[in-house]
Amino acid sequence: MFSFRSISWNHVGSREPWLRSARGKTVAAWLLLLIALPAMAQDQEKVEHPGVLKRMATMNMAKAALAPLVDMMAGRILFDETRARSSRRALTRALRDIPRRFRKPHEDPLSNASDDIWVYWETFSLRAKSARQAARRLRTGNLNGLRQTLPEMVNACLACHDTFRKPP
Ligand code: HEC
Repeated sequence: MFSFRSISWNHVGSREPWLRSARGKTVAAWLLLLIALPAMAQDQEKVEHPGVLKRMATMNMAKAALAPLVDMMAGRILFDETRARSSRRALTRALRDIPRRFRKPHEDPLSNASDDIWVYWETFSLRAKSARQAARRLRTGNLNGLRQTLPEMVNACLACHDTFRKPP
């Protein structure tokens, strides 16, 4: 990116020195926008519907609760029984909220929720239920138990996303 920028920059600059500063500023601003855009599109603050914000917050809580468990399983952080247990509790709490957070078909241009949620509500509820069950079955007493039970949990998240979440 940067080498490309300096090459075209010198090229323009050598022929039209007066363009250098004005054009330079435009190019810099444009590059900044390009870099910032993907992050902005994901930016939760841009979502305006409070119902959509709430359901996204529920999902992000699930993600935040899951992260340390995945890190423990992968050996990125040391296994810690107390932390594993409280993560599971937070995860269960977030997953329990799914049906009521999604019951109404709130819409927002930045939402990735598929309309199928409200066409196939029974299936959606079943996916939420099996995620809750997977969270309950998580074994947090030792690393081995976690290793055996966490994949089912992650699969339960993905199974619902595959059907009901449009690719971000
Ligand atoms: C029953 C279905 C279902 C289950 C189970 C589920 N999700 Fe989601 N998730 C969704 C849907 C639908 C969306 C899109 C919501 C939207 O954009 O309005 C979503 C969005 C997300 C997002 C993005 C939130 C944002 O800010 O845009 C994250 C992160 C996420 N889920 C994590 C998880 C994790 C982690 C699990 C498992 C512990 C999980 N989800 C389980 C349906 C589900």
